[in-house]
Amino acid sequence: VAALEAKDRALVFIGFMGAGKSRALRAARGAGLVALDADDELERELGAPIGEYFDRHGEGEFRCREAAVVPGLLDRAHGGAIALGGGAVTSEAIRAALAEHVVVWLRVDVETAWERARRHDRPLARDRAMFETLLAEREPIYRELADAILPSGDDVPVRALPHLRSLAGMPPESTLLWGASESGEYPAYIGPGLLGLSPLGAAAAHGDIGLGGRPFVVADATVATLHGPALEGAEAVVRVPPGESSKTLTEAERVLGELARAGMRRDDHVVALGGGVVGDLAGFCAAVYQRGVPVVQLPTTLVGQVDSAYGGKTGVDIPEAKNYVGAYHQPAAVIADTETLRTLPAEDLAAGFVEVLKTGLIAGGDLWEGARSVESLDAHAVGPLIAPSVEVKLEVVAEDEREAGRRAVLNLGHTVGHAIEAASGYARHRHGEAVGLGLLAALRLSGADDLRAEVEDILARHGLPTGIHPEVATDEILAAVERDKKRTAEGVGFVLCARPGEVTTGQAVDGARVRAALEELR
Ligand SMILES: NC(=O)c1ccc[n+]([C@@H]2O[C@H](COP(=O)([O-])OP(=O)(O)OC[C@H]3O[C@@H](n4cnc5c(N)ncnc54)[C@H](O)[C@@H]3O)[C@@H](O)[C@H]2O)c1
Repeated sequence: VAALEAKDRALVFIGFMGAGKSRALRAARGAGLVALDADDELERELGAPIGEYFDRHGEGEFRCREAAVVPGLLDRAHGGAIALGGGAVTSEAIRAALAEHVVVWLRVDVETAWERARRHDRPLARDRAMFETLLAEREPIYRELADAILPSGDDVPVRALPHLRSLAGMPPESTLLWGASESGEYPAYIGPGLLGLSPLGAAAAHGDIGLGGRPFVVADATVATLHGPALEGAEAVVRVPPGESSKTLTEAERVLGELARAGMRRDDHVVALGGGVVGDLAGFCAAVYQRGVPVVQLPTTLVGQVDSAYGGKTGVDIPEAKNYVGAYHQPAAVIADTETLRTLPAEDLAAGFVEVLKTGLIAGGDLWEGARSVESLDAHAVGPLIAPSVEVKLEVVAEDEREAGRRAVLNLGHTVGHAIEAASGYARHRHGEAVGLGLLAALRLSGADDLRAEVEDILARHGLPTGIHPEVATDEILAAVERDKKRTAEGVGFVLCARPGEVTTGQAVDGARVRAALEELR
C-alpha cells in the first residue's frame, strides 16, 4: 500500500471548536509529517491572539483576514498536515482550496465540544444556546467537505493516521469512516474502484491494515467469478454458493474445514468477499475459527455496503429462526468498492435500497430526503447515500455494540421482515424485500399512515414487493414474530417510527393489530 500513498495531498483537519484538531496535528507530527496550525499562523499575521482580534474588530473582519490567509497556507501544505479553525470552512475561497487535499472532519458531540471550548475561553463559546446553533449550522458543511470522518476520541487520529495517508492515494471520491465500539475499532473505506487498486482490495491483504498474516478469502461464488482479480494474492479461496441457503451451520462447518485444510493459522485472517450472506457466514467462521481470527469485509452488494459489513453482527440461520446462531465479531476493516454494484442484479440493488430507506427513516434529515427523492435506482443514484447511511449505523453501534438499548433502532422493519423470511424458508423474498414489507407493517403499527403510504409508493417505484408472497401463511409469520420477540425473557417489543428521525424501541403491540398489519400486506 506504500505505493498508494500520495506524497502530495495534505491531511487537512477540520471540525468544530474542541474537536481535537491540535491533538490530530500532534499525531501527524509524530508520524513525521510537517504539521501546521492555521490559527497559529493567523495570529502571527494578525499580530494578536484570535480572541482579542475578534473582540476588537468583530467576526466579519476576522473572517475576511482568515479567507485571505488560509488558501495560501493550503497551497503550501502539500505532503503535510494542517488544522483549520472551526469557522474557516464558511469561506468559499477556503472551501475551494480544500478540493486538492484529504479533508478529515473530526466529529465531536456538543457536550465534549462545549467543555473543551469553555476551558479555552473561545470567543464563540460564551453562550451555550448560540454554541449549539453554530454547531448545528456547521455540521452539514463539515460533512459535505469531508473525505474522512473520525469520531472524537483521544488517540483516534494516532491510530487512524496510516489509513488517512492511504486515503490520500485512493480515488478522490473515496471516503474513510471509523467504526468504534467497546470491543474494537476499524477503518471503513467506501468508494469506486477500491478493489481494483491492488489485488485483494487495496490494503486488505497488506500490512497497512495492521493485520500481518495471510489472507484466506471466503467468497460468494458469483462474485468470485465476476470480480476474480480481486482474489489474486490470497492464500486460499473458499467459494460459497450464492443465496441465503448458504447461511447455515452446515455451510459454516464446510468453510471452517476448508480453511483448516488450507492451513490457516491464528495469525492469519479471513477476507469476506460478497454480500450480506457471505459477510455474515465468513464473519461467523472467523469469530469461531481457533476461537477467533480477524476478518476483513469486502462487501459487494448494497445491503453489505450500507449495513451488514459493519457493526460486527455475524451468524447463520437455523430452520426455526433467522440469525439465531452467531457471534459479535467486529471487522478488522471494511473496504466497500461501490464500483462492484454495477454488476449487481437490479433486484438485489433494490433490496439493498430498502436498508438505505430504513436508515433514512431512523436518521431523518438529509438522508431521508435523499432516499425518498431517488427516482430511478442504479449504482450511480445510490452512490452518494452509501457513506451517510454507514455513518448512521456506525454512530448507533458505537453507542451500543451489543444491542442493550439504542442499537435496536436498527431493527426497524426487521421483526416482521425476519419473520417473513423465516416463515417462507428463506426462499420467497430477498432479505431487503422482506424488510421493506416489515417497514410497511411497522409504520402501520406506528400510526404513521401518511408515511406508510409514501414508503409503499417508494417501494413500488423501485419494483419492490408491497405484498407478501401468497404461499407464506400469516400464522407462520406470526409464530416467527413471537419467536423473534422472545429472544430475551422479557421479550423484545417492536421498533416503531412516528416520523423520519423519530424511532422508539421495545414497544408492546397487540397481537390482533400485528395480524391486521400483515393481512393488509396480502
Ligand atoms: N450482519 C448484519 O448486521 C446484517 C445486516 C443486514 C443484513 N444482513 C444479512 O445480509 C443477508 C442479505 O445480504 P445481501 O442482500 O447482500 O444478499 P446476498 O449476499 O445473498 O447477495 C445477493 C445476491 O447478489 C449476488 N452478488 C453479490 N454481489 C454481487 C455483485 N457485485 N455483482 C453481481 N452479483 C452479486 C450474490 O451472488 C447473491 O446472489 C441476509 O442474510 C441478512 O440477514 C446482515
